[in-house]
Amino acid sequence: MTDSGPQGQGDRSDDGGDRYPPAGDVGRVLVTEAEIVQRTMEIGSEITKDLQGETPLLVGVLKGSVIFVADLMRAIAGPVELDFLAVSSYGKQTQSTGVVKILKDLDNEVTGRHIVLIEDIVDTGLTLRYLINYLEAKNPASVRTCTLLLRQGDHNEDLAIDYVGFSLPPAFVVGYGLDARQKYRNLPYIAEYTGD
Ligand code: IMP
Ligand code: MG
Repeated sequence: MTDSGPQGQGDRSDDGGDRYPPAGDVGRVLVTEAEIVQRTMEIGSEITKDLQGETPLLVGVLKGSVIFVADLMRAIAGPVELDFLAVSSYGKQTQSTGVVKILKDLDNEVTGRHIVLIEDIVDTGLTLRYLINYLEAKNPASVRTCTLLLRQGDHNEDLAIDYVGFSLPPAFVVGYGLDARQKYRNLPYIAEYTGD
């Protein structure tokens, strides 16, 4: 390994910013790579403790949670199984009606399993609420919820999420799996998106 070259924009010396060329519509880093690593280890330890002696089925919501799931599963000591769900994004109309469509269903049986549902970010909580109900209807042993990011606001306060990585102010963010029109998922940190 050689030493890193010139740093990216702003103070990104310890956050992986030097590994990705700065882009015009990527703004302030809100969560650094080091912070993500640290918090992921903590959540992994909590899940290990909470599901001791079980083999939880980790269910990632595609595509945004992919990087988080990959890191989180390695922070869990003991056996886990892995599955994914894909859901449709929704426009303004469907947001109010609460319609979420499943585009890719689970490969595994859910009945009797301990599920950990893993999201990249919870905003209104509509997607998470829908998926909790969807999974509960299949009679699992338990459903726990985990999100890397929780957008602050009074719209999702009633949602009890078991494991939350970071609470964020109401800015649109990219990186570490999260996209803006499919771009920037490979940024190693979470940054504000300043494009439109
Ligand atoms: P909710 O159903 O309103 O909670 O929206 C959650 C979903 O919207 C997430 O799983 C993301 O796919 C997407 N989303 C919400 N906010 C952001 C963001 O800031 N960046 C990227 N995707 C987002
Ligand atoms: Mg998502």
